Amino acid sequence: MIGLIGGSGLSQLDGLVLEEQMQRETPFGEPSAPLMIGKFAGKDVAFLPRHGEHHTIPPHLINYRANIWAMHQLGVDQILAVASVGGITEAYKPGTIALPDQLIDYSCGRESSFASEDFSADKHIDFTYPFDETLRQQIQLAANIEEMLVIDGGVYAVTQGPRLETAAEIRRLKTDGADMVGMTLMPEAVLARELNIAYASIAVVANQAAGISSHPLTIEVILETMDATMGQVHRLLKCVIPL
Ligand code: HPA
Repeated sequence: MIGLIGGSGLSQLDGLVLEEQMQRETPFGEPSAPLMIGKFAGKDVAFLPRHGEHHTIPPHLINYRANIWAMHQLGVDQILAVASVGGITEAYKPGTIALPDQLIDYSCGRESSFASEDFSADKHIDFTYPFDETLRQQIQLAANIEEMLVIDGGVYAVTQGPRLETAAEIRRLKTDGADMVGMTLMPEAVLARELNIAYASIAVVANQAAGISSHPLTIEVILETMDATMGQVHRLLKCVIPL
């Protein structure tokens, strides 16, 4: 089964033929919302909006462990994670879709391992390449089929949120090598890796990151851009899932 995790702007998956809605209790607590299980583009999928059904859970309070564990319990072995980001480097303009191939984690205080309670030396997993390259290439292929321009790669910086960044923080992230900034792919990506779930992200650039544009950042503009881009994200998901 394929897991789909929706972010800001994707709390509902249009086109999902719902078969079952499942509220799963996990050893780590409750997921952000009941998992929506059904057929999407002819395939079995489990959809979960990471901020909850009505976008009430901020990034630093998401129970990432419960979310990923619930998917694992269902037999999910691939996760496509949709996430909104702020664009930092030139090519990452609002409305652009990118498939990050690296990340830098600046978040703090989040439960970031399933092994916290029973650690042993073998739990230091390899995370050199945090995204599953095969899955990433499948998304790129789907974009080619759909004649959709997406940026193949990029470094995603994970900030703590829920506030947006300062201009100086964004300058620092740029110097560090980040192309885009968001608040949610960690610890999601590493938790998936711990359970051997192939994980890749479709990042939607909602705005230029703080201090890059002369326009003030407003949540209205961010949500407007997300709204305008979600049609493309749905098209991409519909094409990639049967691949
Ligand atoms: N910063 C962090 N996360 C985001 C942004 C941003 O500018 N835009 C959308 N998600």
